[in-house]
Amino acid sequence: MRIFLTGGAGYIGSHTLLEVLSAAHEVCVYDDYSNSAPAALARVEQLTNRKFKTVTGDIRDQVSLATALTEFKPDVVVHFAGKKAVGESVEKPLMYYENNVSGTLSLLRAMEAAGCNRIVFSSSATVYGEPQYLPLDENHPLSATNPYGQTKLMVEHILRDWCTARDQASAVLLRYFNPVGAHDSGMIGEDPNDIPNNLMPFVSQVAVGRRETLQVFGSDYDTPDGTGVRDYIHVVDLAKAHAAAIVYAAAHKGCEAINVGTGQGSSVLDVVRAFEKASGRSIPYTMAPRRPGDVAALYAQPDKARTLLGWDAERDLADMCVSAWKWQSQNPDGYGD
Ligand code: NAD
Ligand code: UD1
Repeated sequence: MRIFLTGGAGYIGSHTLLEVLSAAHEVCVYDDYSNSAPAALARVEQLTNRKFKTVTGDIRDQVSLATALTEFKPDVVVHFAGKKAVGESVEKPLMYYENNVSGTLSLLRAMEAAGCNRIVFSSSATVYGEPQYLPLDENHPLSATNPYGQTKLMVEHILRDWCTARDQASAVLLRYFNPVGAHDSGMIGEDPNDIPNNLMPFVSQVAVGRRETLQVFGSDYDTPDGTGVRDYIHVVDLAKAHAAAIVYAAAHKGCEAINVGTGQGSSVLDVVRAFEKASGRSIPYTMAPRRPGDVAALYAQPDKARTLLGWDAERDLADMCVSAWKWQSQNPDGYGD
């Protein structure tokens, strides 16, 4: 098939690109490199020994996007492009609504112009808001606690309505839990621009000596060790879920939301210990107050992905830490400048 990846140079996009090329699909990556580097694409080309098309552009530039889509004629679009930092979204909400919501509208219009009716969308477990029960299944009520979460929720609604209005349309909303880790080669991985907001990249930067101490946000939660519990999912498993979702979108009509998680919760201290084991380094940490907006525990009911996509997570927390450490230690400055 012909697969168009918006944001394909980013963290999850580059790992998915690798899987999609390995499955012998033809690919076009559309990215403005606002949060990524072309170097990631060069490394995927090296790893797969496969060529693919790239177009540099912003998804909000409808002329550029419509031209790229009309020329490439994709069977399925996988839509990663967007902004993802929760704190920044609170400070700059318009930037988030513009990129994530207007950007998606622009993409759907360009897809219609190019006669493409199938999309796989990067949603997030953030659309469940404060958990009312665990594990979270896809029928859990939806809400948002910040502008980033609102944008994911809005795009989910837009895609649902788009599918209702178009007989031939198909949308798969993949609700990611906490993606971490890197490709086994250590050649591609997560490369945050600033001080990482998320746990795993912060822990790896402490291990490699770029930061001194991890702050553990909250030690008095109602969890086995008092620290926050999350469902960490290996980025390679997540990439494989996209490959399965592409096949599903090509064969089905309508809109489906599907969790992508392992179903297993790990605490902050579980992650610290697993990373220490993987890296052979100690991770100094101090207990700090809870981070505003955090919940005690969040983990997926992953059965729907198994039933609809035939997909299951295969990698555990140790695999996630080993691969993250390989990437971090081989590339202490990420992709560099
Ligand atoms: P990322 O920032 O590494 O990748 C996003 C890519 O999109 C980057 O290459 C960036 O340059 C590009 N991009 C951003 N805005 C663009 C625009 N207007 N036009 C063209 N390209 C643009 O992020 P990621 O971690 O790979 O996340 C991918 C998607 O998954 C995002 O939509 C994110 O919200 C979603 N998601 C991520 C996580 C996570 O923990 N990483 C969790 C849930 C959902
Ligand atoms: C965060 C976002 C979520 C987004 C996800 C993936 C918030 C409130 N939520 O989820 O919307 O989809 O990232 O991008 O920002 N922790 C520490 N010290 C740190 C960093 C994190 O103790 O330096 C703890 C957190 O309190 C939490 C756990 O580690 O208990 C995981 O945090 P993080 O990696 O930021 O992910 P989420 O908060 O689950």
